[in-house]
Amino acid sequence: MGVLTILEFPDERLRHKAAVVNRVDSGIRTLVKDMLTTMYEAHGVGLAATQVNVHKRVIVIDVSEEKNSPLCLINPVILTRDGQEESNEGCLSVPGFFEPVNRAKHITLKALDEEGNEFEMAADGLLGVCIQHEMDHLEGKLFVDYLSSLKRERIKKKLEKIHKGR
Ligand code: NI
Repeated sequence: MGVLTILEFPDERLRHKAAVVNRVDSGIRTLVKDMLTTMYEAHGVGLAATQVNVHKRVIVIDVSEEKNSPLCLINPVILTRDGQEESNEGCLSVPGFFEPVNRAKHITLKALDEEGNEFEMAADGLLGVCIQHEMDHLEGKLFVDYLSSLKRERIKKKLEKIHKGR
């Protein structure tokens, strides 16, 4: 394995709802490793399993400058949300487009790590936005869903044109 193929909007497979991971085994750990490789190769800050056509509740994130702080969230659940903040978002599945999206400013969540151990954490800023964005992917939701239908259609048309030319 290694670098995985990232699905791009409007691929319908991005709309699948991901299933809960019942056991964090070597298969999941391999998936996490491959997702990190894929994310770093694509210069992204986050990737959900949905984006590589694996419909399990697994997310990888690294918002560090040095790209040396990988975070893996399995079966993440948001516990609390506070405040609101708008920031520009992009997505490896919607390459080349950046648009403002409103998210909770502070969140707390629980998840399992690659060893299957449950942990809780708090997040805000880029990390908080990234976690909320990636968790949307697990529900089959994309950041373009927050935009006006006019904007979303324009992005869809442009990407479809690019895909046709490949
Ligand atoms: Ni994304």
